[in-house]
Parts: sequence; structure tokens; C-alpha cells
Amino acid sequence: MPGIEWLELAVRWIHVIAGIAWIGTSFYFIRLNAVLAPAEVPADGVEGEAWEVHGGGFYRVAKYRIAPSALPSELHWFKWEAYATWLSGASLLVLVYYLGADAFLLDRNIADIAPATGIAIGAGSVIAAWLVYEMLCRSPLIERPGLFAALGLALATATAWALSEWISGRASYMHVGAAVGTIMAANVFLVIIPAHHGLVAAVQAGREPDASRGKAAARRSLHNNYLTLPVVFVMISNHYPLTYNHPLGWLILGALSFLGGWIRHYYNLRHAGRHRPWMLVAAAAGFAGIAVLATFGTPAPAAAGADDAPVGLTDVREVIAVRCGVCHSAEPVHELFEAPPGGIAFDTDDEIVSRADRIYAVTIESRVMPLGNLTGMTEEERALVGRWARQAK
Ligand code: HEC
Repeated sequence: MPGIEWLELAVRWIHVIAGIAWIGTSFYFIRLNAVLAPAEVPADGVEGEAWEVHGGGFYRVAKYRIAPSALPSELHWFKWEAYATWLSGASLLVLVYYLGADAFLLDRNIADIAPATGIAIGAGSVIAAWLVYEMLCRSPLIERPGLFAALGLALATATAWALSEWISGRASYMHVGAAVGTIMAANVFLVIIPAHHGLVAAVQAGREPDASRGKAAARRSLHNNYLTLPVVFVMISNHYPLTYNHPLGWLILGALSFLGGWIRHYYNLRHAGRHRPWMLVAAAAGFAGIAVLATFGTPAPAAAGADDAPVGLTDVREVIAVRCGVCHSAEPVHELFEAPPGGIAFDTDDEIVSRADRIYAVTIESRVMPLGNLTGMTEEERALVGRWARQAK
């Protein structure tokens, strides 16, 4: 479809910018809460204040207990960064994974389902995840943050596993990310902002503001804060088939999400004055452990084959033309692409031979290509291309 990639670029650009702004405010305000100290000159209703220096100026920020007794003439809200992130994210999900379902959502090596089924499974899982989260928030579990987090992580990991039985590894990851992003945006839209409206209305009407609403909003805001690092990992994961296309990709997602929350926890404790550097060391060791296990803890790719009979370019040229050339050509036949994806074309022998190592990486090691196995590459062809690439690289 002409122009669709330009549209995708525009939406992705907005998504990244809005996401940075949103996460920036989350980091900033959670930290501000942690560093508040009793005001030097106690003022009515002020819970604490912080001195800050940034961009060439000094700031003195005060936080009110519940709400001030009167409203200022201008009150600054923080909501559009969240809404814009979600709206652009949802649009991207549709543009990339639903309009391009054949290539990005489905994987014929996993399940032979229709695009509409895949879309229903993906979108359904996002809505279901949000409903389950809301239920948990209304259960007594909400008073047990550690248990809540553990259960949430277990559910997210299980969702990644279930999705990976139906849709591509990449799409499974992205739908878990979309579910988390939806939970976060819904927290802003349905809990946090309405609570702020309630507080404002109470002050305007001269009523005593309801402290419990502010407390509920603060809790959701803290949930969002812990979800930032896992969700950012998912958003960059599509560059790393070694995670999402790993046979245990769902477990890797769970483990890295845990690390993300753990690192956030380190910073939240640190800002509250409890510095525990061992937590960062443990996170680094955990990351290295995951990387080592994922790399060496799994059997060598079967298709690589022990067979060393020489395979020449003439033996694989046709396979690559048929299974890869639909997309990877100066003028791709596949309707999704106007230019060769990743700038990679296999029209000439030179183009094929010079990329032998990448061909090996994507067809044998991560098996991400052919994308979604849209062109129906057989295991024999994969083994053949694998042997050629191993000998040629
Ligand atoms: C349905 C279209 C499609 C088919 C068929 C396809 N590819 Fe790709 N390929 C893509 C897309 C899209 C990307 C860019 C991936 C991204 O955006 O992450 C890509 C990226 C690549 C890359 C660069 C990524 C990297 O890690 O180096 C290589 C190499 C590659 N493909 C090789 C192949 C080979 C070999 C085949 C055939 C066995 C193949 N592709 C079949 C769509 C396709």
C-alpha cells in the first residue's frame, strides 16, 4: 500500500516522543514524592517540599497534603502524554500487526490460523489482561504489593506463553507490551485523572476533599512507574529475534520484565534515601545470566545439520529467490513493501553471498525469516540454505 510506511513512520515517531514524555513525568514525580522534606517555612496544608536545580535555574516545589484550600488560577495537568502514547501505540499495532497480519502477526511455523483469528486472539488478550488487572486492583491483594507484583508478572509471562502458541514470537511480545501499555493508560484515564477532577471539584465547592481517591490514584501511578522499564523492553525487543524467537522467548520476557521492575525498585528506594548498590549488581548479574542461559542453555539449531557435504550457490539460489525474493528484492512483489525490507535485496549473487552470515542468523539461529514463514519455506530448504550459509560465511 503506497504511503503506508510513511504513515507508520509518523505514528511511530509520535509514539516514541509521547512515550518519552510520559515516562519522564512518571520518573520525575515518583522521585519528587520520595525526596520531599518538611518545608523550611511550614505553610498551611503543605506536606513537604524539594529544592531542585535544572537548566540554569533553582526550583522550590511544594506538595500539598490532599489538596490546597484554594485553587491557583492555572493548574497544569499531565495526561496527554499518556493518551498520545496509547493512541499512537494502538494505531501502530493496527498498522504493523493487523494490516500486515500475514507477515508480522502470524507465523505458519507456529499455527495455521486466519488473520482475523490472530487479530481476535491478540486484541482479545489485551482487553482480557486489562480486565484481570482491574479485578486484582479491586481484590484484597491490592494491599499486598509484593504478592500483587509477583502474580502480575506470572500472569504476563503466562500470557506471553499462551500467545506464542498461536501468533508469532514478535507479535506475542508486542501484545504483552500493548496489554501493559493499555493497563497504564487506563490507570491514567479511568482512575488518576478522574481522581484529580474529584479533588479539584471538592476544593472549588469548598468541600473536604476525599483523601482516599488521591490515595488510589497514587497507587495506580506507582504501578505505572514499575511497569515503565518492562514496557520499554518490549518496545525495543522487535530488534532482537534472539529474545522473541527463542524457544523459551516467553520465559525471557518474564525474566527481563522482572529485572525491569527490580531496577525501578532500586531507584525508588534510592530516591527515598535507601541506597542498595548490590541491587544493581544483582540486576547486571541477572541480565548476564539470562543472556548466557539463552545462548548456551538451548540445543544447537537442528536445521544447521552435521552434514558437511558442500552446498554451492547454485543449489540455494532458487530457494532464496522463491522463499525470500518476494520481499527482498529491489522491487518487492509483496504488497506490504515498497522497498526491500531492511534495505536487503537478494536479486544478484553478490547480494546473496555478501550476506551469508545474516542469512544463517535469520533462517537458522533465530528462524525469523522468511517473516511469518509467509512463503512456506520447508525444513529441508532451511537446512540446505543453512548448510550453504555456514560454509559460505
Ligand atoms: C514477507 C516478507 C519477507 C520474507 C518472505 C523474507 N523477509 Fe527478511 N525481512 C523482512 C522484513 C520486514 C525485515 C525487516 C525486519 C524488521 O523490521 O525487524 C527483514 C529483514 C531481514 C534481514 C535483516 C535482519 C537481520 O537481522 O540481519 C535479513 C538478513 C533477512 N530479512 C533475510 C531473509 C531471508 C534469508 C529470507 C528467506 C529465507 C527472508 N528474509 C524472507 C521481510 C521478509
